[in-house]
Amino acid sequence: MNAIELDAVTYRYDQEELRFDLTAAPGEWLAVIGPSGAGKSTLLDILAGFLRPDGGAVRLEGRDMTATAPAERPVSMVFQDDNLFPHLSAERNVALGISPTWRLPASARARAREALERVGLAGLADRMPGELSGGERQRVALARAFLRDRPILLLDEPFAALGPALRMEMLALIGALRDTLARPPTIVMVTHHPGDALGHADRVAFLEGGRIRLTGSPRQVLSGNDPRVAAYLGASASAEP
Ligand SMILES: Nc1ncnc2c1ncn2[C@@H]1O[C@H](COP(=O)(O)OP(=O)(O)O)[C@@H](O)[C@H]1O
Ligand SMILES: [Mg+2]
Repeated sequence: MNAIELDAVTYRYDQEELRFDLTAAPGEWLAVIGPSGAGKSTLLDILAGFLRPDGGAVRLEGRDMTATAPAERPVSMVFQDDNLFPHLSAERNVALGISPTWRLPASARARAREALERVGLAGLADRMPGELSGGERQRVALARAFLRDRPILLLDEPFAALGPALRMEMLALIGALRDTLARPPTIVMVTHHPGDALGHADRVAFLEGGRIRLTGSPRQVLSGNDPRVAAYLGASASAEP
């Protein structure tokens, strides 16, 4: 059984139609790269259920979820920013992943604190998001996502606003968190730093013009043998901080 199957999924904006065929195996870490406007966020939003396809089928964990609401899907998502409720402490933001009630059960508090410890934020549980750095806020978001322990984890450029060293730290953290789970999630990670895929992702998908043009091992895809990827890498190399 595949964790993810997009079967001739189409999505139409005013001008253009995007079309996706994609499978991912349970526990696989898939990196998604491609130029701005290629359709990377649309792909993730379709997987998460924020966008309803015009055609085709979305199967998650072997079940047709084309029409399933986001909250009913086996999915967690982390965005580039604004993942946290600004008026709630780090602990409450994390606990929301497992307990939606205002009166937090002691067990949920304890688990939220443990999750914060695992991402290196022990001692910052009572801080508000505005009192945390950008990197710390993304750690809180990751703590919540991993605490939820859903089979599929979608990451839409979650570290784009962080510097290279911090980004590498966060990627290593995801790897470490993944290793703590009995059943590691299938990860679909959009990044505009193609190098992030090397050493972390199992596979890379290259998107362009609303289509997945190429998938393969990070080495294969990033070798630039494909002229479309080479053109993209040339452009992004000069944009690398
Ligand atoms: N709300 C929208 N209305 C109209 N067009 C959109 C909307 N959102 C995205 N698009 C278009 O869809 C294409 C894919 O966008 P997106 O998925 O955000 O790309 P990426 O995440 O790769 O930068 C782009 O051409 C973009 O202009
Ligand atoms: Mg995007």
